[in-house]
Amino acid sequence: QVKGFLFDLDGVIANTSAYHAKAWHQLADELGVTWTEDLGNQLKGVGRMDSLNLILKYGGKENDYTEDEKVKYAAEKNDNYLKLLDTLDKSEILPGMEDFIKEISDQHYLISLASSSKNSPLVLEKLGLAQYFDEKVDPATLKHGKPDPEIYTRAAEVLKLKPEECIGLEDASAGVKSINGSGAISVGIGDPKVLSEADINFNNTSEVTLQNIAKAMDKKKV
Ligand code: G6P
Ligand code: MG
Repeated sequence: QVKGFLFDLDGVIANTSAYHAKAWHQLADELGVTWTEDLGNQLKGVGRMDSLNLILKYGGKENDYTEDEKVKYAAEKNDNYLKLLDTLDKSEILPGMEDFIKEISDQHYLISLASSSKNSPLVLEKLGLAQYFDEKVDPATLKHGKPDPEIYTRAAEVLKLKPEECIGLEDASAGVKSINGSGAISVGIGDPKVLSEADINFNNTSEVTLQNIAKAMDKKKV
């Protein structure tokens, strides 16, 4: 029986994955690494330093910089991301997600946040959605980032639930892998080819309702 929902933030609740991508794209240009859609997909859900390392590897530049230089570049990306957040408000909540969060909150499901972003508390505040979350995982306390299951295992644990009693929602391949590894039921939102490992797939956020999830679970017997 499902008792809780574990939410990714960027690209699931808000359009902020586009902001992250924009800031990484800017840095990739500066580092002379060609930006591709595939690189963009690989970065989704992945933490700050891991993302920078992926970009450098993608461009064959993984040995070109010292740790100090990498820290400086990661900080530069974050400054650019924060500038993009300046004007963030409710209008960037993805279609249907505020209604869905209200729906599950009204039905007394427990809700936790499983975002890799250290900026996620700020983003939730700006979107006016922070009050719906019973718990949040602080990504700074994790040993391993997505695709490792740690963050989703913890997101269930902070609700005092077993992962098997929870549904995780993700827009990223790394995130779906993380949910699956934890034992929770995975909902992938976006291109089903990219998110083929998810238990349930939706093309976009407006399809995410309790009724549609129940229907999909019935069909798949998850
Ligand atoms: C999320 C986003 C990623 C981002 C990561 C770290 O998972 O999907 O694009 O790199 O968080 O975010 P941060 O705000 O801490 O740099
Ligand atoms: Mg995401």
